[in-house]
Amino acid sequence: MNQHSNVSAPVSAFEQRLEQCYNELKWLYHELYQDKGNAFDYFLSMLKSCYEGRKQSLRSLDEQRLAQPDWYRSNKLMGMMMYPSNFGGNLNGVRERLDYLEECGVNYLHLMPLLDSPEGKSDGGYAVSDFRKVRPDLGTMEDLEALADECHSKGIALCLDFVLNHTSEEHPWAKAAREGDPIARSRYFFYNDWVIPNEFEKTVPQVFPTTAPGSFTWLDDCQEIVMTSFYPFQWDLNYANPMVFNDMTENLLYLANRGMDVIRLDAVPYIWKELGTTCRNLPQVHTLVRMMHLACQIVCPGVLLLGEVVMEPAKVAPYFGTVEKPECDMLYNVTTMCTTWHTVATRNVHLLRHQMDQVCALPNTCLFQNYLRCHDDIGWGLDYKWLLEHYGQDEVSHKKYLNDWFTGKWPGSWSRGELYNDDPRLGDARLCGTTASLVGIETALAPDAPPQALEQAIACDMMLHAWMLTQSGIPVLYSGDEVGQLNDNDYHNDPLKADDSRYIHRGVFDWEMAEKRHTPGTVQNRIFYGLRKLEQIRAAHPVFRSDAQVWTWGGDDAVMGLERRFGGERLVGLFNFSEQTHKLNLGKGVAEDLLTGAAVWLDEVTLPGYGFYWLLLERS
Ligand code: GLC
Repeated sequence: MNQHSNVSAPVSAFEQRLEQCYNELKWLYHELYQDKGNAFDYFLSMLKSCYEGRKQSLRSLDEQRLAQPDWYRSNKLMGMMMYPSNFGGNLNGVRERLDYLEECGVNYLHLMPLLDSPEGKSDGGYAVSDFRKVRPDLGTMEDLEALADECHSKGIALCLDFVLNHTSEEHPWAKAAREGDPIARSRYFFYNDWVIPNEFEKTVPQVFPTTAPGSFTWLDDCQEIVMTSFYPFQWDLNYANPMVFNDMTENLLYLANRGMDVIRLDAVPYIWKELGTTCRNLPQVHTLVRMMHLACQIVCPGVLLLGEVVMEPAKVAPYFGTVEKPECDMLYNVTTMCTTWHTVATRNVHLLRHQMDQVCALPNTCLFQNYLRCHDDIGWGLDYKWLLEHYGQDEVSHKKYLNDWFTGKWPGSWSRGELYNDDPRLGDARLCGTTASLVGIETALAPDAPPQALEQAIACDMMLHAWMLTQSGIPVLYSGDEVGQLNDNDYHNDPLKADDSRYIHRGVFDWEMAEKRHTPGTVQNRIFYGLRKLEQIRAAHPVFRSDAQVWTWGGDDAVMGLERRFGGERLVGLFNFSEQTHKLNLGKGVAEDLLTGAAVWLDEVTLPGYGFYWLLLERS
């Protein structure tokens, strides 16, 4: 007889969850670290203390979400990403302006980096000097918690960046490493000559070839070299050291315990380095992410991981892991985003259709965050093999065409973007600009522009947003896009920003301009309420749920078609990527135009230039 059977203490949620994950976690940890010391035991006790530090309201939220695990797959989620300083000045300013977000229909808010980061050496906040401290000009940790609480009371989920590949050179670990502390040094990659760094450089592509060439930095004061894949002030962490993994996971859980619902794993493909490789997407990265996922599952199961995997298509989906062993809960739909812009410039939807065929073939448990713009450049990570095979287009000349088009150099182009990190060796420039400036609204507002230019630009803007809202996943607006905010050319005059053209689309939110949304007929009014209408239709129809069946459908060379089915509903979205009118024969029958309620005969569907339709073919 089991002597303990009558006296066993109640098992805490923590113990239950740990038990479910224990074997896999231990296996992965030991496989990676061949841990002979007590790193794993330390890891487990760290998880326990993070669980104990999780406040009751968040534990209740965890339970709610465990009871409804698909809460983030709903068609009612609408996201927005923003820099708190640009939008509200600071965190309290964001909190005071949550009513604007509610007016926008936003219930998922991604706050760009807000942790302490040295001015002038911050890479937009992506060089963190203290993972437990908010940048003083933005507020305090208490302000962040208060913002999270208020968001939760309004049903808004919060996402925060977790910059895990590197720390700022001013992080205490980096400072101690600089002073020669061997334990601190073991958290980074230090070399006393260029032999190994030069070996790495042979196989590692550069992240910022113009603004920060190479992946290593010479430290004059120590007379040594440190690995810096991004900017020289961002020192790569060495995850081969289990202390780094333990402490960074603790930092992640610390942020989760402040009330974050989604943690964005910044630049995650880079976190494992190995000589002779590209140091991207190595198998150990997947082990690390899986272990972070397990850590969340044990401590804060309501918290999701969003992977920032800006890689070619085949490298992205593996970050979902498998259904049984998930890694990231969500990923950016980066290839669809850049292929969408390719389609704007070429007016040819074939590559986009090919891309969507691949997305639609993934299990619908794979959840993407869809977007037109984010805080970063648009990197032209297209399927060049396919373009070459089908259109004989080679990568370098095609990138040049896209960049010429979007910087307005190409004859007839109305776009006003700027290049980013132009690598003349590879012809590899990327692109920056707000959605409104890229689709021609900036050009159309010039005094000498023909009146139809503005109509066309607004139509293109709306069509692209409708396209984004038709895709499965969470649509995320870039703050300012909801009122057509233009490029911010002032960044050229700021010495701290001038070298980084991403600041052209990171302008301060223009509240005065946004006020014009209330004046009928203004650009702001048309875009704002046009979007609201689309969002409301999306939220009202289950056919937009992310577990709907979706496949590409119909269309022609310039018109993209996507069909969605869920329950009894069947919807076809059609998007004209050209300025010409297109007529399509989609067979027999009548559908309802969800935007106007009008009946549309399928054998003659007319899409004006940059027009789109949401046609409901069957309803439940
Ligand atoms: C991510 C961020 C980018 C930053 C980089 C380095 O890619 O999105 O803005 O420069 O990581 O942290």
